[in-house]
Amino acid sequence: MVPRVYVPWGNVGYVFLYKGGIIMSLRKELEDLKLKVSQQIEQAKTLKELDDIRVDTLGKKGPITKVLRGMKDLSADERPIVGASANEIRDALITQIKEKKHELEMQALNDALAQESIDVTLPSRRVKRGVRHILSQTQEEIEDIFLSMGYKIVEGFEVESDHYNFERMNLPKGHPARDMQDTFYISEEILLRTHTSPVQARVMEEHDFSKGGLRMISPGCVFRRDTDDATHSHQFHQIEGLVIDKGITMGDLKGTLEFVIKKIFGDERQIRLRPSFFPFTEPSVEIDVSCFKCEGKGCNVCKYTGWIEILGAGMVHPKVLKMSQIDPEVYAGFAFGLGQERIAMLRFGINDIRGFYTNDMRFSEQFARL
Ligand code: DAH
Repeated sequence: MVPRVYVPWGNVGYVFLYKGGIIMSLRKELEDLKLKVSQQIEQAKTLKELDDIRVDTLGKKGPITKVLRGMKDLSADERPIVGASANEIRDALITQIKEKKHELEMQALNDALAQESIDVTLPSRRVKRGVRHILSQTQEEIEDIFLSMGYKIVEGFEVESDHYNFERMNLPKGHPARDMQDTFYISEEILLRTHTSPVQARVMEEHDFSKGGLRMISPGCVFRRDTDDATHSHQFHQIEGLVIDKGITMGDLKGTLEFVIKKIFGDERQIRLRPSFFPFTEPSVEIDVSCFKCEGKGCNVCKYTGWIEILGAGMVHPKVLKMSQIDPEVYAGFAFGLGQERIAMLRFGINDIRGFYTNDMRFSEQFARL
């Protein structure tokens, strides 16, 4: 009968009890080691400390390795028993280290979170909101006025042909009025449009008059060979307008544009029509608005005349109608062209046209709340 004493090592324990000798001392050594290291692991405060314990215990020079090395002095019977217990202890320690490591990592994470907690009462960093460009605002405001009168909005081409830009607008090659509208040429026939007027010809030739008259505006960018200064720019923006129907008169032109100008500059404004010349209208007029700064008394804005020139207009020239296959005996129309920069400069007292294009936020921000 073998006396059995319970030892926490499970079934290898009783073997040691009656083998005695070296095996007993190795067993004691391993048991002590396990206890000692287990306590150290439990008390480790940092991941570094824990890793040091791992290296000291399980590393090449550690006690477990030493025990395993010492096995060469054991008999063939004893070796697997000691080997098994050394492995068992090593595995138990590795598991404990792993668990402790996880615990320390979670703790480090919680500490970091506690430190990084967000103070929701702090005022946030201000997000800079963009501002719509004042030309876009101006254009959309004018578009809305015309949309409310049943006009359609048509986009033209910035790259145009000589044919539409000049010929169809009654400006044949060699016409002196072309000199005022020199531009950037892509080829002899293709150019950057000098005005939005070519859209008139493009729309006229496509419109189906059997379904009624034509009312359109066409806003967009135009180009001229100009040296930039406070009042000139090699690119700027216009809005073209065109109305064609049976029985359209100069009265329609005046009434329409007076309504639009009052919408833009205020109901108290008056307009006046001055005779002018454009090759594509006959008769042609220049429309002035009574000065909104001095109420007509005379100031630097109206150059002491009491009137400010706003746009060019006229009755569509019969030749222009004919070139678009429209019979001038049946149809008549009026057209106009205005400069968007000019309107914005007058309304907001902008004295340098280059402000529109130089992308200085201080310029744009002034128009944030319009
Ligand atoms: N196209 C002219 C220009 O750029 C402006 C203009 C004047 C357009 C009279 C018109 C008009 O339609 O009738 O100077």
